[in-house]
Amino acid sequence: MKAAAGFEQALDEIDALIARNGVAAAQAVVEYLHDRFPHYAWIGIYWVEGRDLILGAWKGPEATEHTRIPIGTGVCGAAAASGKTEIVADVSQDPRYLACFPDTRSEIVVPIFHEGRVVGEIDIDGNRIGAFGPDDQRFLERVAARLARAR
Ligand code: SME
Repeated sequence: MKAAAGFEQALDEIDALIARNGVAAAQAVVEYLHDRFPHYAWIGIYWVEGRDLILGAWKGPEATEHTRIPIGTGVCGAAAASGKTEIVADVSQDPRYLACFPDTRSEIVVPIFHEGRVVGEIDIDGNRIGAFGPDDQRFLERVAARLARAR
């Protein structure tokens, strides 16, 4: 299966999940993405509250200790500050990286916008170097637009 084709179908599924799940939409989307795409080893959504990012829905093998991250700190905080997607191919080479899990090798963080401001972000850890590419970025930016409406 071509990744891009899988992503198109997933967006349809995500629209249906959001329509069906009301206030639990973010949790449903996180669980779906984790289970549907094996390279999304750990996935969480952080929401902006004041100057911090607060962890909301997540799914993965274990909980993270980073449930509150100041904007500007870590890869997560950098994406929230800049409003730009961060793809870190090798977390061991990025001095901003806040370690969560021993298996993590790469990370993607995609901001969620509402009315032109960053209101949250999707954070995904991968277990191999370079797990995430431009297809993931395009896909997850479209997921983020849907989550903004489901917030
Ligand atoms: N690695 C992130 C922190 C969050 S954990 O990956 C769940 C960072 O550098 O901001």
